[in-house]
Amino acid sequence: MNKEEIKKKLVLALDVEDINEAKNLVDIMSPYIGTFKVGLQLFCGYGLEIINYIKEKNSNFFLDVKLHDIPNTVQKAAFNVVKNGAVFFNVHSTGSIEMMRAAKKGALEASEKYNLKKPLILAVTILTSISEEVLNNELENKLKLKDFVIKLAKNAKLAGLDGVVASGKEIRVIKEACGEEFIVLAPGIRPKWSVKDDQKRIVTPYEAIKDGADFIVLGRAITKAEDKIDAIEKIYKEIQGEI
Ligand code: C5P
Repeated sequence: MNKEEIKKKLVLALDVEDINEAKNLVDIMSPYIGTFKVGLQLFCGYGLEIINYIKEKNSNFFLDVKLHDIPNTVQKAAFNVVKNGAVFFNVHSTGSIEMMRAAKKGALEASEKYNLKKPLILAVTILTSISEEVLNNELENKLKLKDFVIKLAKNAKLAGLDGVVASGKEIRVIKEACGEEFIVLAPGIRPKWSVKDDQKRIVTPYEAIKDGADFIVLGRAITKAEDKIDAIEKIYKEIQGEI
């Protein structure tokens, strides 16, 4: 895989408190990273400021806002997300097939109206912070977590969404259930040399891409590294099988 192909697959999670730190990450990582992920923390703190900064640098952004509301509200929110130029955004699949279809409708309305690229819409199945124990006992859903994840991924496909956000460990089962073209964006990625932090079910960048991940999310492996350039260059080498 060449460097351009690797760059397209890499998403960097801008999970930082400070807008200047986020901007600095965008500056130094733009040559290596295809898409910057703006999550709720940064978005609620700085709104469009960070998005506009990423756009000025000609980079893509993924608005990780996990929409979950009544279909009409989600449709209108999706319209605005796309109007602001996101190349990816996501919704909770548990909001229903009707809600996911509404998200797509709103997204397409905006891309047509403003002549923008159609965004990729991904579904969150079950948050990794929800255990099988919580699913079965607190939420009284008696399915096995893995079966529920597959069911929700199938619902997302039925609604016409492009793919899901899923752990690197689930790439194969999701592709088997929903098809190879169904996009999997995998967080919880840790290079061989980095610490796990609070992530439990991690895979390396090399393994995730070998298993078919379309995109991988890098977070603290880069943002907390003392030498961020050295860290990203090592990740490139690891994906290329050089280390
Ligand atoms: O620092 P780290 O690599 O753990 O960051 C992973 C990123 O992916 C964070 O932004 C986290 O919110 C996100 N994420 C995740 N697990 C999911 C969905 C998203 O870790 N299932």
